[in-house]
Amino acid sequence: MSVIADRLKNVSISASAAMTQRARELAAKGIKVVSLSSGEPDFPTPARAIEAAHAAALAGDTKYPPMDGTPALKAAIIRKFKRDNNLDYDASQIVVSGGGKQVIFNAMLATCNPGDEVVIPTPSWVSYADIVKFAGGVPVAVPCHEQAGFKLRPEDLEAAITPRTKWLFLNFPNNPTGAACSRAEMAAIAEVMLRHPNVWIMTDDIYEHLVYDDFQFCTIAEVEPRLYDRVLTMNGVSKAYAMTGWRLGFCAGPKDLISAVSNVNGQNGGGIATLTQAAATAALDGPQDLLKERAAIYKERRDFVLDRLSEVEGLRCHRPEGAFYIYPNISGLIGKTSKGGRKIDTDVDFVMALVDEHHVATVQGAAYGMSPFFRISYATSMEKLGEGCARIAQFCKDMR
Ligand SMILES: Cc1ncc(COP(=O)(O)O)c(C=O)c1O
Repeated sequence: MSVIADRLKNVSISASAAMTQRARELAAKGIKVVSLSSGEPDFPTPARAIEAAHAAALAGDTKYPPMDGTPALKAAIIRKFKRDNNLDYDASQIVVSGGGKQVIFNAMLATCNPGDEVVIPTPSWVSYADIVKFAGGVPVAVPCHEQAGFKLRPEDLEAAITPRTKWLFLNFPNNPTGAACSRAEMAAIAEVMLRHPNVWIMTDDIYEHLVYDDFQFCTIAEVEPRLYDRVLTMNGVSKAYAMTGWRLGFCAGPKDLISAVSNVNGQNGGGIATLTQAAATAALDGPQDLLKERAAIYKERRDFVLDRLSEVEGLRCHRPEGAFYIYPNISGLIGKTSKGGRKIDTDVDFVMALVDEHHVATVQGAAYGMSPFFRISYATSMEKLGEGCARIAQFCKDMR
């Protein structure tokens, strides 16, 4: 009898983590790998957050924290939701967890019964489907087509909802496409959801501050207040404040749901590190200028990569509104053979040949549920982006 539980049978290892590992292995052999696979800001954590953690440690703030978050951090989160999203919550409507990922994990464990369906606009972050399966739910992918700018069309959403649907996930700006929803597009999604009062909505707004060209971010509970009581609004400090290693995410929603999520949170973690909470409080309450400054840098990088790659025969690049990813279509290269003799039948073949022959790490579209594409993360320096794009261009040019 296997020691491994059945619930892990369908849960996979994250493909982006697998590619990052492959890049590390090549680097360990002395090979200069350009890594465009990791969804992690290359900026430092704001100094005031680090100083706040240091001060908290010296002040003896090193004991067990409250399960659902410190009062100071919850107050900062309440201010954040008001300031950025015009949403009103009180402290009983907030839970703090170990990263956005744990928020979603806890929420699904707290709410999914076996067979409950979770509608996931796809392409989507690799972890959603696995988390849902882990919790006993059934992920239901709804395609967000390239021709529709990778947005969720109301008619596709409507068609995906069944009497078993428990949740709809939203993630705009999106990982991996960078697509974001305008107010009108979000209102159209909300209109569908008003017709389905038994379905809850989890919105993952982790890329909220990464939008470009004056694009205005919006979130569904604000766009349609009649949905407020069925929306779990998730966010965190990982992407906006470059605090991926601190592990802090949070969510807000109706009290009963939050108390169930908080229950799971307490059982599986016992609250989040006190120093991390002090750092996150300082980041959320501090001057917010760095968000715009960094967004301007990401925009430059996005434009740079788009310029370089749109000249490459065989690639088709959609212009994303936000996040720090580009999701080129490679259908023009499927069926060809790389210079190193690798047949490119799928996007997995493409990214594996690219990393082995030209040492550029990216992630296959298959990991996000839509092929044939690959994901480039431009959360890295211009120098690396320039080198990476040149190598990708050469790799594609050499295909026969
Ligand atoms: C869409 C999305 N949600 C959540 C996360 C995870 O955030 P955290 O690092 O706060 O767990 C990621 C990280 O890649 C992501 O892309």
